[in-house]
Amino acid sequence: MELSEVRQRAAERLAGVCKVCRHCNGVVCAGQVPGFGGVGTGAGFIANVEALARRKLNLRVLHQAKEADTHVRLFGQNLSMPILGAAVAGVKVNRMAGVEERELTEAMILGPRLAGTLGMGGDGGDPIVFETTLSVIKQAHGLGIPVIKPRTQDALLERVRLAEEAGAVAIAVDVDAAGLINMALLGQKVEPKTAAQVREIVEATQKPVILKGIMTPEDAIVAADAGAAGIVVSNHGGRALDHTPGTADVLPQIVREVKGQLTILVDGGVRSGVDVLKMLALGADAVLVGRPLAIAAAGGGQEGVRLQLEEYRNQLRVAMVLTGCARVSDVDSSVLWQG
Ligand SMILES: Cc1cc2nc3c(=O)[nH]c(=O)nc-3n(C[C@H](O)[C@H](O)[C@H](O)COP(=O)(O)O)c2cc1C
Repeated sequence: MELSEVRQRAAERLAGVCKVCRHCNGVVCAGQVPGFGGVGTGAGFIANVEALARRKLNLRVLHQAKEADTHVRLFGQNLSMPILGAAVAGVKVNRMAGVEERELTEAMILGPRLAGTLGMGGDGGDPIVFETTLSVIKQAHGLGIPVIKPRTQDALLERVRLAEEAGAVAIAVDVDAAGLINMALLGQKVEPKTAAQVREIVEATQKPVILKGIMTPEDAIVAADAGAAGIVVSNHGGRALDHTPGTADVLPQIVREVKGQLTILVDGGVRSGVDVLKMLALGADAVLVGRPLAIAAAGGGQEGVRLQLEEYRNQLRVAMVLTGCARVSDVDSSVLWQG
């Protein structure tokens, strides 16, 4: 199977929800939430792609770094690359007719395992979403990360317990889903979390807790002070609030505040190994990829996701060699052209 075939098949299977554009930039699908787009005008999704495109790299070829090693260690796991699968879930609410929740979740969690990395699974208004996430994480011997919605505290803590029971390596909460339209449509209560509530979540489990949807230094400090093991700098792919800035634009301020205190992940608009390198250079420890992996999942299942991740890894390797980085830890802001 080749990626071109995977994408062609995805375009047929996702007809009406995603056009599988050559450049997945949020323009054609603007406003399509539920669906694959960014909410409202689609500006948050588009800003993610634009913020990355504005960064330019210093091409350096007179150095020792003849080969690049993309391995990283995160949350106690050795991973083949600093690239993880984001949670993309909810086939019914997101109108992915003809794609089963189980099929999508297996591809998004087991596909990254085939490539030597980790994927995430979601939670949603329909109970089948979280049930499927937990079941696939068990199938993956715990090597997957469930992302729980910021439900009312008791409902959230109950799901943290279930995730721990499933043996998940880490447990995430997409705190930016506090007003998510997809949840409201199904009558499920979600809410912003106080610092005390975040601490309660961290203390309720032995597992590393990751807060997904951090867009300001203030929220990053709350996460770090509450003992979170990680954050995902994310605007939910532009799906939570219209007119949020691109994640690559807010990442450096957040890195300045909390680097070294917790693991910093970032997502939004990552479409190549070069984009991964840019996010690392801006201070991230690793990135998540959402829509392109969901497209690969729809077109080629686990194998499609593996192929897409391997392509990004190869592109990252080449980009590292051409910027003089032998290891992921060598990547820093000097890789970026300052103008
Ligand atoms: C159809 C769809 C469903 C999603 N479902 C979830 C979810 O269940 N939980 C979650 O934390 N994020 C969810 N996301 C957001 C992704 O995890 C991720 O933050 C975002 O897609 C990253 O941006 P990218 O798609 O540009 O890579 C979803 C995104 C899409 C497009």
